[in-house]
Amino acid sequence: MPRSFVSCLGLFVGLFLGLAPAFGQQAGPDKFFDDRPPPLPKEVLSDSKLIARGEQIWKEQCAHCHGSKAYPGKAPKLTPRRYTPEFVWDRVNNGFRGMPAWKEVYSAEEIIGVVAYVMSDEFWP
Ligand code: HEC
Repeated sequence: MPRSFVSCLGLFVGLFLGLAPAFGQQAGPDKFFDDRPPPLPKEVLSDSKLIARGEQIWKEQCAHCHGSKAYPGKAPKLTPRRYTPEFVWDRVNNGFRGMPAWKEVYSAEEIIGVVAYVMSDEFWP
C-alpha cells in the first residue's frame, strides 16, 4: 500500500472521529429538551404551592404588561381557556417576539408555577 494512501485514510478517520462528537452535540436530545415543555399533568397544575409561587411571579413580572392596569395594546389580554398548558409554558420559557423569555430568570419549577397559576381558576389578570 502506498504511504500517501495510508496517511490519507488516517486523515479521514481522524476527521470523522474529531467531528462526530460535534454533530452528536448539535443533535443531542438535551438541548432540544430544554426548550420543550415538561410533562404538565393535572396533579402538577393543581399544586397549590406552585400556584401560589406563580401568582407572586405574575404580580411581580407579568401584570405590568398583561394585567388590567397595563396600557392597552402593550401585551395581549390572556385568554387561558383557549390555551394548553404546553403553549403557556412555551411562551413563558422561550418568549416570543415582544414577550420576554424567562428561562434564564426562573427555575424550571417556578416556570411550571406560572403555568399552573395562569391555567388555574385563581388567575386574575
Ligand atoms: C415586556 C412586556 C411583557 C412581559 C413582562 C410579559 N409579557 Fe407575555 N407577552 C408580551 C407580548 C408583547 C406578547 C405577544 C407576543 C406576540 O404574540 O407577538 C406576550 C405573549 C404572552 C403569551 C401568549 C399570549 C397569546 O395569546 O398568544 C402568554 C401566555 C404570556 N405572554 C404570558 C406571560 C407571563 C406568564 C409573563 C410573566 C412571567 C409575561 N407574559 C410577561 C409581553 C410581555
